[in-house]
Amino acid sequence: MGSVSNSKDQFIDEALANRRDQHRFRTLRSLDPQGTTVVSDGEKELINFSGNDYLGLSKHPDVIDRAKQYADKYGAGSTASRLISGTYSIHKKLEQKLADTFGWEGSLVFNSGFQANSTIISTLADRHALILADKLSHNSLLQGSLSSRATFRRFEHNSLEDLEDQLAHASKEDFSRIIVISESLFSMDGDRSNLEAIAECTESHNAWLFVDDAHAVGVWGKNGLGLAHGIEGIDMVLGTCGKAFGGFGAFLLCSDKVKDYLINFCPGFIYTTALPPAVIGTIEAAAELIPDMDGAREQIRENIEMMKTGIHDAGFETGNSDSQIIPILVGGEQETLDLADYLEEQGFLATAIRPPTVPKGSARIRITLSSEHSASQIETFVRALKDWSNG
Ligand SMILES: Cc1ncc(COP(=O)(O)O)c(C=O)c1O
Repeated sequence: MGSVSNSKDQFIDEALANRRDQHRFRTLRSLDPQGTTVVSDGEKELINFSGNDYLGLSKHPDVIDRAKQYADKYGAGSTASRLISGTYSIHKKLEQKLADTFGWEGSLVFNSGFQANSTIISTLADRHALILADKLSHNSLLQGSLSSRATFRRFEHNSLEDLEDQLAHASKEDFSRIIVISESLFSMDGDRSNLEAIAECTESHNAWLFVDDAHAVGVWGKNGLGLAHGIEGIDMVLGTCGKAFGGFGAFLLCSDKVKDYLINFCPGFIYTTALPPAVIGTIEAAAELIPDMDGAREQIRENIEMMKTGIHDAGFETGNSDSQIIPILVGGEQETLDLADYLEEQGFLATAIRPPTVPKGSARIRITLSSEHSASQIETFVRALKDWSNG
C-alpha cells in the first residue's frame, strides 16, 4: 500500500516534468481575434489557420445582435438548471427550431459538445452494454464510453469490414444493447466516414448509431445541415455550436422518446445550469442563417482546393482529408514544432498537433479553413511552406 508522502503534490511535479522532458508541455497564450487574424499575447498579428469559425458567424452582426437582445430581455444568466427554472421560452423555441431545421422529431440543447458526448453515451449504455467506437473518435466520446462502465471496443478507423466483423461477433455475446459511435468528419484528419454504409450495417445488427457531426454542421450536406442529414438508420446526431455556428453549446437531434429519456436520466443535462440567454440567441440566429449560406460554403470549397494543391506542391501529404480540416503530415514531433515556429515567424498561426492527441509518429500541422480566408492569405501561406521545403 502506498503511503501519503509529505509532498502531496509530488505526482504533479513528476507529471509536469515528464511532459517537459517529452517536449509536450502545453501553455496558454492570448490570441485576440480580428476577423481571420489574431493578435498573439497582445503583440504579433497572425493569420489564423487554427480556428473553427468556418463560416465567420462568430462576427456576424445578426448573431451578435440576437445575443444582445436576449441578454437585454432575459438577463445575463439562466439562473438554474433546465428542470428547475432554467428553461425559458427561448430554450424551448430554439430546440423546436433545431429539430425543424434539421428534420428530426426532437432536439435537446447541451452546454457543450464535450459535455453532451461524455454524458449522453454513458446514459444510453449500462455496464452490460457494448460500445463500438471508431478508433479515432474524439476524446469526449471516449470519456462517455469509459464512464458508462460498458464493454468498450474500438473498430479500425473507417473500416466497415472491422465494424461488421465486430458486430457479428458481438451478436453472439450477451450484451444488453450495442451502441456504435462514429464522427462524420474526423477532427484531426479531416476525412469522412461512410455514414450510409455504417447505418446499414448497424441497423442489420439492431444496434444504436450515434454520429458526431460537430465539424460538418453548417459546412457540409444539403443547406449545410451536416453529413448525417437525411441518412436513414442514424439514431442520434450531435451538432456543436462552437464551430460553424460561431457561438457555443451543442445540440442533439433524436426522437422524442430519446429526448424524454435524456431529460429524465442524463446527468450532464440535468445537473448543470442552462445555457445563458445570449448564447441561446447566437445559436438561434446562426441556425436561421446557415441554410442560406451556400455562397460561403462554395467559398470554403474553393479555399480547400487552393490550400490542398499548395500543400501538395510544397511536398507534403494531407492524408485522406476531404474537408476544411487539412493535416500537413510531418511525422516527427520536433520537426512539426520547428515548422509551426517557422510558420509563426512568417505570420501564421498553424498549430502543431502531437501525440497523445494524434497517434505516435503522426504529428502534424493542422490547418482549418474558413469561408472568410482570402486567396491572398492562402497564397502567402503556401509560399512560406514552399520556402521551408526548399530549405
Ligand atoms: C468531433 C468533436 N466532437 C465534440 C467536440 C466538443 O465540442 P465542444 O467544443 O462544443 O465541447 C469537438 C471539439 O471541440 C470535436 O472535435
